[in-house]
Amino acid sequence: MAHRVIEIDNKAKGFYVTTPIYYVNDKPHIGHAYTTIAADIVARWHRLKGQRVFFLTGTDEHGEKIAKAAAASGSNPQEFVDGIVKQYKDAWEVLNISYDYFVRTTDKKHIEAVSKFLDILAKNGDVYKGEYEGWYCVSDETFFTDLQLKDGKCPECGKEVIRLKESTHFFRLSAYQDKLLDLYKTNTEFLSPKLRSEEIINRVKEGLKDISITRATVKWGVQFDNDHTVYVWVDALLNYISALDWPNGDKFGDFWPANVHIVGKEINWFHSVIWPAMLLSAGMNTPEKVFAHGWWTVDGKKMSKSSHNFVDPLDITKRYSVDALRYFLIRQMPFGYDGDFSESAMKELINSELLGALGNLVNRVLTLAENSKMSKFTGENELEAKINLTVLEGHMDAIELYSALNEIMEFVRYCNKYVNDKKPWTLEGKELEEVLYNLLESLRVISILLYPFIPATCEKIAQSLGTDKELSMSLINCKFRNEFGDKTSKGDLLFKKV
Ligand code: MSP
Repeated sequence: MAHRVIEIDNKAKGFYVTTPIYYVNDKPHIGHAYTTIAADIVARWHRLKGQRVFFLTGTDEHGEKIAKAAAASGSNPQEFVDGIVKQYKDAWEVLNISYDYFVRTTDKKHIEAVSKFLDILAKNGDVYKGEYEGWYCVSDETFFTDLQLKDGKCPECGKEVIRLKESTHFFRLSAYQDKLLDLYKTNTEFLSPKLRSEEIINRVKEGLKDISITRATVKWGVQFDNDHTVYVWVDALLNYISALDWPNGDKFGDFWPANVHIVGKEINWFHSVIWPAMLLSAGMNTPEKVFAHGWWTVDGKKMSKSSHNFVDPLDITKRYSVDALRYFLIRQMPFGYDGDFSESAMKELINSELLGALGNLVNRVLTLAENSKMSKFTGENELEAKINLTVLEGHMDAIELYSALNEIMEFVRYCNKYVNDKKPWTLEGKELEEVLYNLLESLRVISILLYPFIPATCEKIAQSLGTDKELSMSLINCKFRNEFGDKTSKGDLLFKKV
């Protein structure tokens, strides 16, 4: 079967998607897996479109929190972080994360980029020396004023805060209020999704204070101006350009600005306000979009060490499957909103949708094809119009992953209905051939469209259909082409009832 191979336009700007870089004080949990899977879906979708993609993830390894975690475990910080980084890399391999590069803030090239960038901000007059006095939450690595504290504790995580009074360097964030408001106005997609944009705009309108960007009492990090260490958040944000080899090489020119930084809502401020202000100060382009998604609770409660309710994604994949987890995380709530993780909800989705709708369709169609004893299927493209690629692309481009998945699953359900209505087991000859043609072509298209979400399952479907998985996985192969069907084979069941 001849597949069309998409020609990649090497001159067009590449598509750049990032996850936050995760703190390596502990192993990954379901929240980290969520962001990373979402970014993986976006990356895979853009590869299906034939774009050159750079998908970045990595780890945030400096700062007081990590230094303390290392000390508590009795190891030196570098040894400590190396051990946890491995756990992240292993987890992403299991979860089928197709990242192109894994950045570490302890990488030499990252450290050099941080120093270089701060020198530019200083040269541009946006860095000055002073003294910081206020509160600091080590767990969130965030400064707070008296007014921001909640009952004397961190307003984000509820933990104890410490009082800081130390010499520092400030970044002139206050100078960027108007420029930021301009950015939000001209690029209406920058603050995504819409439900989170107002909060940021209002806070910026209230006025911006200069921020402390170095710590005098922390040693584990990038050194600045002799006896200071760069504030871990400034260090961390720069990963998005150091990973592209900024200021050297071609990658930066090829991929910057980022098309989307996918982050959790609690770190939206750093990405939507501080990061673009830093870039504007350095005279660089700002990202196209910051998408801040919602939070998972577990059985209604916030995940925390003290509640002993951290969900380990690897544990879930052992008991269900990688694709079941990937599917559930996206299908449970619209991307952007909060949701609750419960295994009973996950079981229900596996049984009703992965097994009941998708697995059932694949199994029925392949059994019929096998029993029909025909070697070639042709017919009119009766089902093709039922999948609206334009709507789907609109959802995917806006990172409405839930709606996109819903759209594809509607088509799966329609195909099941088509089987029920046509009753192919009662047909023969040309009539049977036509129905099977439509169903096999539909399955082939479904295996392409669902591929970003549940890649391993889709590769199995493609294999059962006798298509070449490397060549077929491209959006230009989503047209029914009257060419289908030399050899299909019924593989193992895709999903089992749980
Ligand atoms: N190191 C910073 C990010 C620096 S990016 C320049 C950090 N790291 S983190 O390890 O705490 O990871 C935070 C991210 O993990 C969140 O932004 C979110 O993407 C994900 N999640 C962590 N807990 C989560 C939930 N309970 N639910 C959903 N995602 C959450 O912050």
